Amino acid sequence: MIVLHETAPGKLNLTLDVLGQRPDGYHDLEMVMVSVSLCDSLTLELGTGEPWSVTCDRSEIPDGPENLCWKAARAYCDAAGVDPDGLRIRVKKHIPAQAGMAGGSSDAAAVLRALNRHYGRFSDEELRALGLRVGSDVPYCLFGGVALARGRGELLTRLPDLPKELYFVLIKPEFSASTPALFRALDTAGVTARPDTAAMLSAIQQQDRNAIGANLQNAFEPLVAAQYPQVKALRQILLAHGAIGARLTGTGSVIFGLFCSKLRAFSAALELEELCPQVHLAEALPAPPCVHPL
Ligand code: C5P
Repeated sequence: MIVLHETAPGKLNLTLDVLGQRPDGYHDLEMVMVSVSLCDSLTLELGTGEPWSVTCDRSEIPDGPENLCWKAARAYCDAAGVDPDGLRIRVKKHIPAQAGMAGGSSDAAAVLRALNRHYGRFSDEELRALGLRVGSDVPYCLFGGVALARGRGELLTRLPDLPKELYFVLIKPEFSASTPALFRALDTAGVTARPDTAAMLSAIQQQDRNAIGANLQNAFEPLVAAQYPQVKALRQILLAHGAIGARLTGTGSVIFGLFCSKLRAFSAALELEELCPQVHLAEALPAPPCVHPL
């Protein structure tokens, strides 16, 4: 039996813009994404000789064929024409679920990475194309680091790493919002909080931490904040503790604050823990090395 271990980092949206609806039912997006140090851990056992199984240590996440890890493994084995003769995947979750942090997509990306490390069938680009069949965020999760994502999320441009000494405080409130429902609501309401993506790109190029904080923006935030007043209240607490910016990530419900001081981030996290059971500290991760170039 072969045992593979893989880490799956969560992501945050520094910006998220919805440019319009597409004929295929998806939306064209423009997002600046960053991978963070809050990660799930996966173990894959190949050659168990048993029927496939996917299990997760959180009851709210589906086991078995409904789990994105299963779908990713199925897609990989079919596309590569390989049969591991039994596969067991175990996921240890740290990334909050239904959070806008691509937890499920990152787990699926980790499965693709692990299987490709073992079987070596695909280039990085081919693996991202395979990942897109599993979910819109999977190509970015394979790409990692700081990136501009366009199209459904699969047209990726590498950006410089964030400046040193930036810390994220992440809060997962009790509520979760439905991603398809929010896209439909945005189609009706229109985008009222459009990020200045060019200003964010320039802030990253200049390594200007305050400009990065000032340009955090998410087209979904007004819709989510109108429904859940905690969004505004939690942002205000983060800003009152010295965050240089605070926003919703993805379609939520995680709200994050960006801090230049680890001490301030820590004290904000301590106070917020009194209000919310799920509070995490994280840092940006650098881009992973290119494993299988074309
Ligand atoms: O690709 P994925 O299954 O993760 O997308 C989940 C849902 O999010 C889609 O069914 C769609 O409603 C919405 N979505 C979208 N446009 C995107 C990505 C996601 O409309 N670019």
